[in-house]
Amino acid sequence: EDDDGYRLWLRYEPVTNAAIKVEYLKYASFIANTEKGEITGSALKELQTGLKQLIGKRVPAITTAGSRTGGVVFSLKPATGDSAAKEGYQIQPVSGNIVISAQSERGILYGTFALLRHMQMQQPLKNLRISSTPKIRYRMLNHWDNTDGTIERGYAGGSIWKWYELPERVDPRYEDYARANASLGINGTVLNNVNASARFMSQEYIGKVAAIANVLRKYGIKTYLSVYFAAPKTLGGLAGSDPLDPNVRAWWADKVAEIYKTIPDFGGFLVKANSEGEPGPQDYGRTHADGANMLAAALKPYDGIVVWRAFVYKADPDADRFKAAYEEFVPLDGQFDPKVIVQVKNGPIDFQPREPFSPLFGNMPKTPLGMEFQITQEYLGFAAHAVYEAPLFKECLESDTWVNGQGSTVAKVIDGSLHGYERTLIAGVANTGSDRNWTGHPLAQANWYAFGRLAWDHQLSAEQIAAEWTQLTLTRQIKSREHIVKMMLRSREIYIGYNTPLGLSRPWMGVHFAPEPWQSRGARPDWTATYYHRADSAGLGFDRTTSGSNALSQYRPQVQAQWNDPDKTPLPYLLWFHHVSWNKKLGSGRTLWDELCHRLYSGADSVSWMQQQWELARNDLDTRVYADVAGRLKVQRREAIWWRDAWLLYLQTFSRQPVPASLTPPD
Ligand code: GCU
Repeated sequence: EDDDGYRLWLRYEPVTNAAIKVEYLKYASFIANTEKGEITGSALKELQTGLKQLIGKRVPAITTAGSRTGGVVFSLKPATGDSAAKEGYQIQPVSGNIVISAQSERGILYGTFALLRHMQMQQPLKNLRISSTPKIRYRMLNHWDNTDGTIERGYAGGSIWKWYELPERVDPRYEDYARANASLGINGTVLNNVNASARFMSQEYIGKVAAIANVLRKYGIKTYLSVYFAAPKTLGGLAGSDPLDPNVRAWWADKVAEIYKTIPDFGGFLVKANSEGEPGPQDYGRTHADGANMLAAALKPYDGIVVWRAFVYKADPDADRFKAAYEEFVPLDGQFDPKVIVQVKNGPIDFQPREPFSPLFGNMPKTPLGMEFQITQEYLGFAAHAVYEAPLFKECLESDTWVNGQGSTVAKVIDGSLHGYERTLIAGVANTGSDRNWTGHPLAQANWYAFGRLAWDHQLSAEQIAAEWTQLTLTRQIKSREHIVKMMLRSREIYIGYNTPLGLSRPWMGVHFAPEPWQSRGARPDWTATYYHRADSAGLGFDRTTSGSNALSQYRPQVQAQWNDPDKTPLPYLLWFHHVSWNKKLGSGRTLWDELCHRLYSGADSVSWMQQQWELARNDLDTRVYADVAGRLKVQRREAIWWRDAWLLYLQTFSRQPVPASLTPPD
């Protein structure tokens, strides 16, 4: 079958290993499912589809195994543990059957997908013993999709949500979307953009949303909505949207009741307030906590939660935007309702190719902090550049905040183990769209996959996930897989090399794609490139030490110690924290200028290396997927050179030095 990428990592290619196939067939006489629930129904259907394709057998469903052997048994146990235990699963051979046991239907579904993953990789079932529980409770995608079918920062076509057709026509694609997410353990999705339209609170849209929720529910996924904070005024016709105004509170309480009548398992709200021009409680002299707690009060009779974003900064040319979220949110610690989770972007600025971890992590011990990663490649070359993001996610999760001594990693903040948060959350801004292959760039599917796998278990390694994904999605051939995994693992550093080396950030304006490091005009200085890199005749970089903005003071002393001395700061972070003179000798032995030239050149050159790795895997790849990626790598190569030259020609006007001759040999 020709592969158009639609099936993602759920391809269920026929098992080719004969011995393994014989073993699988031993457990394929029946699937026993005593439950009548919708979610175990989905698990059953998936297992039947998977086995049919993997081993060519239509396996019948029965209700109880009794004394029969040679099948797969779903075993639902009474719920005893916490929410993690309830979502977990065990898989093991028990007296001649493979038993998937769990304390919830969701656990059965997750266990089923784990078994199918195992079988897709042609692993033996003998001695199989998998026991797994999620480390984080709310594992969500955030879609930045609009009512008109566009997606903010989407690069894979339009929205998959067909608002004009809903609720009457329900696109079958919603179910495939749900399957893909459930296969990773994702259990929530926010359907619409954080820059939210108030229309999503209208009766008309609630009905449309309910139709989608009906599909997602079958796969254990709850539906959430982003809200426009001023909806009581713009939609409800009230005089304002002050969170302490009883009329406003009553409006939200009624609205929430209306939603739950239509969507009984509604997940809750995601809110971007007083950020980038969006309305919020500060418009009425109230705090983020006042705003969040008002929505929490409206949700009180139900299970839903409020996810309140911490992505805030002001248009102040003298301020360091790096410090804004900490300054606004840390003083509110302890004031949020228990239903509120504050969602924090991984870094203090905005999803840059490399950022230090946000100083909020660890500094709000009384408020559950959720992680917001961006899967869509807003700052990572859209769908044109191959950038595998698991190393970026891991780098942040493994960063040590030192708030309770050594080992207080960001992962331990967000999984609740450091401060004992009961509600824990991780969200990824989705990279999916209406393109047939979902993500535009075929390799970008791996970023959706990696996010989901890490949301379930942040201890998995980037390499392990890449190897797994490649095997499930592209090829089972070991040699070719190794080439692809190697290329994926280096891809982010390569991108950083030609794009933002040495801790540079935000050389883009406008659409966040083209190099514009010279951009300095504009009403908002913090929306210009020169604000971030601070190039001048003396040097380059943003001084965030005591001689500069002192943003470093937001971290613990041990973290400060890693970054406050330009001679000791690891080079990947150097220009995040220091304004460094062009001729300063760096740890590498080169001057700043020479090091920049070196990195920009080797980054751009390494795209050719990526092309070679891809070429080496060619024979084991589907021809369409091969050609698609090969074409995109050519674009990436051309654009990497464009980035390199844009930076160098611009920075040369300050450094007044040539590119080292060794980098530009005559042809
Ligand atoms: C970035 C992005 C915006 C988005 C914002 C946010 O700035 O460019 O499109 O709305 O982040 O996360 O709220």
